[in-house]
Order: sequence, then structure tokens, then C-alpha cells
Amino acid sequence: MIKEEIKVFSPATVANVSSGFDVMGLAIGEVGDTLVFRKTKELGARINHVFGAELPMEPEKNIASFVAMLMLKRAKAEFGLEIDIYKGAMGGSGLGSSASSCAAAAVGTNYFLNNKYSNHELIAFAAEGERVACGSPITDNVAPAILGGIIFIKNPKDRKFISLPVPKDFYLVIIHPQLEVTTEESRRIIKKTVPLGLVTRQMANFGGLLVSLYQEDYGLMKESMIDYLAEPYRHTLIQGYKSIRESAMKAGAIGGGISGSGPSVFHICKGRESAKKVYDAINKSYKKEKTPYKMYLSEIDHKGTYVM
Ligand code: HSE
Repeated sequence: MIKEEIKVFSPATVANVSSGFDVMGLAIGEVGDTLVFRKTKELGARINHVFGAELPMEPEKNIASFVAMLMLKRAKAEFGLEIDIYKGAMGGSGLGSSASSCAAAAVGTNYFLNNKYSNHELIAFAAEGERVACGSPITDNVAPAILGGIIFIKNPKDRKFISLPVPKDFYLVIIHPQLEVTTEESRRIIKKTVPLGLVTRQMANFGGLLVSLYQEDYGLMKESMIDYLAEPYRHTLIQGYKSIRESAMKAGAIGGGISGSGPSVFHICKGRESAKKVYDAINKSYKKEKTPYKMYLSEIDHKGTYVM
């Protein structure tokens, strides 16, 4: 029987994963959004409360109610939903904060629609929320948020989202320097045309990263996590970026880069012990900066968005 009230958790995410610009993303086990949904007699969706952030309350402007309304309308539902939002990752962190809300809205609404829509259809609905949040229906955050694990976005139009294997001992260390970086600005500063030689190198790195996941080859992963498309421009937006990267790699990280459009920075480590060393090294080095920050040490999330 369908309940009148449910709680949904959706993980935060790291988009791009270095050499996979716009085509790869992974879900973080440690942090995410929790949304509570209540069925109402009035049609449509409305936001009741937002905890932990200042977000628009108007149903068309709030991305969670936007996604819920879209789905309810498409399904010609004869009921509505009231939503409470408990924010996990902060907006503008580069940890897929908006995607987390959109994914939770899609999965929560689908519950009340008797799970009418497939996961891949839910990604498309959630991506419409991303369009409202950042101007384009990007899926490299919403796909891993909904599916969990590491996802290769082969073709969002054809809903080709491929779950990749997660090697044993795969750990993440993430730092979120609390700086203002918008996705729009972060996309605007990237060069829109790239020399052929660079495309070839980027393809080789992305291919290497994919193969390293299938073969559990951390050596190949290390060689392959070099991004020529976004990092060379975006790093200028992140205070202390060079020292974060240097201290992490010196402490034994496999590879890393900017999480999504930044300002968060992620590193992949092999094993918890190594991740702890990398965490401590970044923490020590970033204390010298004047910027407040948050850090996470986490395994990958395998569950994706789920009704709790
Ligand atoms: N792949 C996107 C970017 C993620 O790097 O701009 C933004 O959410």
C-alpha cells in the first residue's frame, strides 16, 4: 500500500571525475539531501519547509517542486505533494547539490505514482530540474545521484547511462572550500574549441580511466586522471587549488581534480588508511588559507536515491 508520507535520501555527487568532462559522475556515500513528501488533495506540488539552506519557495522556482509538478502533470495525477527539504551539501559546492534535490524529487514523486517511471526516465525528469538550476539539463550529477556508483553518460538523449564497476578499496577525500563559484561562470571560462592533439590526449585519458575501473588498475587510473578541458581554466576560481592537489598527491592519492564545476576538490585513494593520510595532508595544507572549508572522507554510494 502506498503511504501518505515518505522520506527520500539522495546522495551528493562528483561530476566529471577529472578526464570525464560532462560524461562521468559518481555518488558520494557521506552526504546528500533528504526530502519528506506528503500526499495532498490539492493538485501540484508545494514546498513546506527548507532546512539548512535558503531556497526559493515558489513551486516553479524551487527545483524539487518543479520536478514533482512536471511528473504529476505528465502522469495526470489526481493528487498533489507537499515537500520538506533538508539540505546536505551546500548549493554552489560542486557536489551536485541541486541534482540531489532533483533526484530525490523524481524518486519521491515516482513512489506516489506507483513507480510508473523507470530510473532512466527519472534521470530525464531530474535533468529538467537541473535546467532550471543551471541553464542546461546536465545529467552527470543526476544520473549517479539516482543510480548510485560510477556512471558513464554515453548519451543522455537516448538515456544511455552505463554503471561502471567500482574497484575494491575505492575511497574519496573531498574538500569544499566555501567560495562562491557558479556553474554558469565555471562553464563560461572554458575554451569552446580545442586543438585536435588535445582531444586525442583527453580521449586517451578518459579511455584509460574507464579501463582502469574494469581492470581495478589503480596505476592506470593515476596516469589517466589528467583533464585538459576544464581544469586548466577552472583552477583559477579555487583559492589554494594547487596546494590541495600537491599535498594530496604527495600523501599518496591516486588522482583527483575539481568536483563538477567546483569549488570542491576530490581525490581518489586506495584504501581507508591511505585516504586518511590524504585527508590529513589536505587539512593541514588548507588550514593556511583564510577560507573556511568542509572535508569528507567517504566510500562510494552504491544505493543511489531511495525511499527510506
Ligand atoms: N559537468 C558539469 C560541469 C557539471 O563540469 O560543468 C556541473 O554540474
